[in-house]
Amino acid sequence: MTRSVWLHVSIAILCALAVLLFLRVRGASGAPLPSESTAAGYRLAEAWCKDCHAIEAATAGRKGRATDFVTIANRASTTALSLKVFMKTSHHRMPNLIIMPDQADDLANYILSLKRD
Ligand code: HEC
Repeated sequence: MTRSVWLHVSIAILCALAVLLFLRVRGASGAPLPSESTAAGYRLAEAWCKDCHAIEAATAGRKGRATDFVTIANRASTTALSLKVFMKTSHHRMPNLIIMPDQADDLANYILSLKRD
């Protein structure tokens, strides 16, 4: 009787470990999909950039304190790299946000998603 209880408990633990291992392997197996990154970038932009920049197409063109993201995205000179370099440098009128590299990736993906072809 006790033996079979132990057997069940062991099997349950093994299953839980297998699930955990599976999740870890999946999580480690590469960068998030671009669409997830873009969505994360949008959320960051809403939290950090919206006060000064129009961050969406719907609000672009309104007079704001800073250039709207659609305009920035559609400049020929704008690339993921140029955006990330800009985000790393401190800007005298921009508060010195601490933006982690993966957050900068997400923000750059989001801004570039506003590019019109
Ligand atoms: C306190 C206001 C403020 C906030 C908040 C802010 N910005 Fe800015 N940003 C500015 C101003 C003002 C400029 C224009 C400076 C200039 O180009 O001379 C600027 C310029 C930029 C530029 C360069 C535009 C160009 O002309 O090339 C980028 C890219 C940018 N911001 C991205 C961001 C991102 C991403 C965030 C959020 C993480 C953010 N900004 C948050 C005020 C702000």
